[in-house]
Amino acid sequence: MQNKKKRILIGSSGASGMPLLLCCLELIRKAENYESHLILTPSALLTLEHECGLKEKDLQKYADKIYSPEDIGASPASGSFLTEGMLVIPCSMKTLAGIQTGYTDNLLLRAADVTIKEQRRLILAVRESPLSAIHLRNMAQLALLPGVRIMPLMLTYYHCPRTLEDMTNQVAARLVEPFGIKSEEYHRWEGLKT
Ligand SMILES: Cc1cc2nc3c(=O)[nH]c(=O)nc-3n(C[C@H](O)[C@H](O)[C@H](O)COP(=O)(O)O)c2cc1C
Repeated sequence: MQNKKKRILIGSSGASGMPLLLCCLELIRKAENYESHLILTPSALLTLEHECGLKEKDLQKYADKIYSPEDIGASPASGSFLTEGMLVIPCSMKTLAGIQTGYTDNLLLRAADVTIKEQRRLILAVRESPLSAIHLRNMAQLALLPGVRIMPLMLTYYHCPRTLEDMTNQVAARLVEPFGIKSEEYHRWEGLKT
């Protein structure tokens, strides 16, 4: 029996922004016919605990499957494992550099490399400030590849958010939308109200 659900690979590395990871996983979980396959680096687990007070086992209710970054033989390491693509949220500058150079020494980096070689969608929710010339060069190189989108974790005010949750929902909804996931909480721009 073939798996009928659409798989989205989620990589998470040790940058700030873990509430956004949780929100993206929640949107995928709520979407009909989608499932999430999550790979967290050891640094991601540190920032997850620092920012959300959660441990890896707590993510079992958010993600359909969780892989160890050391499990280089797991399904996402092969292009024959069909996915809709991959979202890296948050994407640290180290993981960005690993993806840019093709240095695939963990499962997250290998899965991103596979996503690129198969010309599937790869969204990198990068987070650092300020950005150095090295960071910007890595982003510029990756942005040239088919299917790759650099979507920095940036605050938005144009939808007039009232709470941090409003702002988090808006950013997360934009990150999962390219995979075909719609969120009711996503405020589309409909022109200035005059
Ligand atoms: C609380 C905390 C916040 C961090 N935030 C960032 C960040 O926003 N961007 C970044 O590139 N690195 C950040 N780092 C540093 C990365 O975790 C570090 O470079 C790590 O080696 C990244 O490894 P990974 O890409 O394999 O997860 C942060 C570290 C900690 C402990």
